[in-house]
Amino acid sequence: MKKNFSVVGTIIAGAFLAGFAQSALAEVDIAAGEKIYQRQRCETCHGGNLQGSAAFPNLLTSPKTATLEEFKKIVLEGKSAMPAFAANKTVAEGIDNLYAFVVSKKPK
Ligand code: HEC
Repeated sequence: MKKNFSVVGTIIAGAFLAGFAQSALAEVDIAAGEKIYQRQRCETCHGGNLQGSAAFPNLLTSPKTATLEEFKKIVLEGKSAMPAFAANKTVAEGIDNLYAFVVSKKPK
């Protein structure tokens, strides 16, 4: 009986660790997102504090940063003076990290 319990325990622990490893892999990297924001020139228009200016929207309060889907759409496709970044590999591949960085700056 005792042996059976430890087998079950090992299976549960294994499943837990596998789940943990998976969520760690899926985790976003805010620091990497910040680098993209600075180096791919988002900062030039939207400002170092993400608050924009008269001509550029504030990313902290924009409804388009409320969801990843909205964010992806505007950043990858662009709109008027907002350049499309779909062809920029660094931005396109790092979009989850970039979004995580923007969200991390929003007032809680
Ligand atoms: C050349 C200046 C410029 C650069 C560079 C730029 N943006 Fe923008 N961005 C704009 C302008 C202008 C808009 C408003 C577009 C519109 O709706 O007419 C905008 C809109 C946005 C929006 C939607 C906000 C809203 O409420 O409309 C997001 C999100 C955004 N930009 C993120 C980014 C990110 C992330 C980067 C870097 C990858 C970036 N932008 C680079 C000028 C820029």
